Amino acid sequence: MSSNSSLEGNKIAAAVLVAGIVAMLSGFIADQFFHAETLETDAYPIAVVETAAASTIAEEPPLTRDEILVLISSASLDQGAKVAKKCVSCHTFGQGEPDKIGPNLWNSINRPIASEGDFEYSKAFQALAATGFVWDYEQLFHYLEKPARHIKGTKMSFAGLKKESDRAAIIEYLRQQASTPAPLE
Ligand code: HEC
Repeated sequence: MSSNSSLEGNKIAAAVLVAGIVAMLSGFIADQFFHAETLETDAYPIAVVETAAASTIAEEPPLTRDEILVLISSASLDQGAKVAKKCVSCHTFGQGEPDKIGPNLWNSINRPIASEGDFEYSKAFQALAATGFVWDYEQLFHYLEKPARHIKGTKMSFAGLKKESDRAAIIEYLRQQASTPAPLE
C-alpha cells in the first residue's frame, strides 16, 4: 500500500515536472516569435521601476553641522556608554590610560588628529595632521559612520556605526570624557 502510494506520488511529480517543462518550452518558443513585441511593451515599465529604485538607494545629503549638534544635544549618555563597548577592544577613554590598538580617547573632541602621545598613526592620519584637521563634531560624526570611507587609509578597522542616534550618543559620551566637556555650539 505504502509503496503503491509513493509510486502514485512519483507519477504526480513526474506529471508536474513534464507540465513545467512544456510550459517553459512554450514560453521559450513564444519568446522567439513575439520577442520584439514583448520587449516593446515591457521596456517602458521596467525603465520606470529602475529609476524609482535608483533614487531610493541614492544617498541622502549629509546632515548639516546644526542638525548634528541637535542630535548630540538630545543624545543619551547611557546609550553612549553602551555604544562605547564597541570601541573598548581598541581604545581607552579615561585620563592617562594607555593606548591600545587605537589611541587613548580622553579629551578627544576638538583635538587635532593624530596628536595622542606617541601613538603610531597611519600615514593617512599623519598627512591630515599636516593640514590642520581637527576632530570637531562633524568630522567625528562622518568618520564614525564608516571610517575607511571617510578617511581612506585609516588603520582603524571598524565597520562603523550606521545609526545616527548611535553616533550622536558616542560623541556625547566622548564629550564627557574630558576635563572640561567641549561646548555644544
Ligand atoms: C579594531 C580596533 C578599533 C575599534 C573597534 C575602534 N577603533 Fe578608533 N581607532 C583605531 C585605530 C587603530 C585608530 C588610529 C587610526 C589611524 O592611525 O589611521 C583609531 C582612531 C580613532 C579616532 C581618532 C583619534 C586620533 O587621535 O586622531 C577616534 C576619534 C576613534 N578612533 C574613535 C573610535 C570610536 C568612538 C570607536 C567605537 C565606536 C572606535 N574608535 C572603534 C582602532 C579602533
